[in-house]
Amino acid sequence: GTPARTSSHQVRLTIDGHAVSVPAGTSVMHAAAEAGIDIPRLCATEQLEAFGSCRLCVVEIAGRRGFPASCTTLVEDGMTVNTESEALFRLRRGIMELYISDHPLDCLTCSANGNCELQDMAGRVGLREVRYGDGANHLGEVPDASNPYFAYDPSKCIVCSRCVRACADIQGTFALTSTARGFESRIAAAGGVDFLASECVSCGACVAACPTAALMEKSVIANGQPQRRVTTTCAYCGVGCSLNAE
Ligand code: FES
Repeated sequence: GTPARTSSHQVRLTIDGHAVSVPAGTSVMHAAAEAGIDIPRLCATEQLEAFGSCRLCVVEIAGRRGFPASCTTLVEDGMTVNTESEALFRLRRGIMELYISDHPLDCLTCSANGNCELQDMAGRVGLREVRYGDGANHLGEVPDASNPYFAYDPSKCIVCSRCVRACADIQGTFALTSTARGFESRIAAAGGVDFLASECVSCGACVAACPTAALMEKSVIANGQPQRRVTTTCAYCGVGCSLNAE
């Protein structure tokens, strides 16, 4: 009979002309990485399960309509993927333009300047002008600074949900949620309380996962330096030791 499909089944496909062979179940984004191709992304990270919300990782797949997200599309035998074309460049610039239209243009004074994935991606896709919006949405709202270690500034938030997923997937806590829709959308502590009163254990996983300055260590905001180095977070308990370690 036919052997059962297991994760050891290798799938062969072509990405930007490179022949790639990866285990079944691999995303197109990860397969591309195997070929040394780094597809632009905002909501995907190596640690978190793909979510497919930012759409920056769009690609073209021969025989398929539209522009699927490479982080949530799984490889298939014989697939031919294209990660670079004028249409894709235009699409990614358009997506970044929409993000930046709803983001304050204060990069030079922002505590994430030089360490911001939104800034990096805007540069990488060649965004030169933003035709809509004033980036003032949520501006003037008081950041939630109730937690002693970090603050949340909704005006800097792109609602990629990396923090929500880091809280759940890495820490196993469900302290965060995304609320509202459209321009009103933002991240909040679950239960309608502030971060300090929430289930948050101050592990720092959300801060490490944030691609912008929305979730920032207070010491970075105050003096540009992290107070403690957070390299990892234990997935098995809620004590949050890593934030308290040097
Ligand atoms: Fe794929 Fe965001 S990285 S949709």
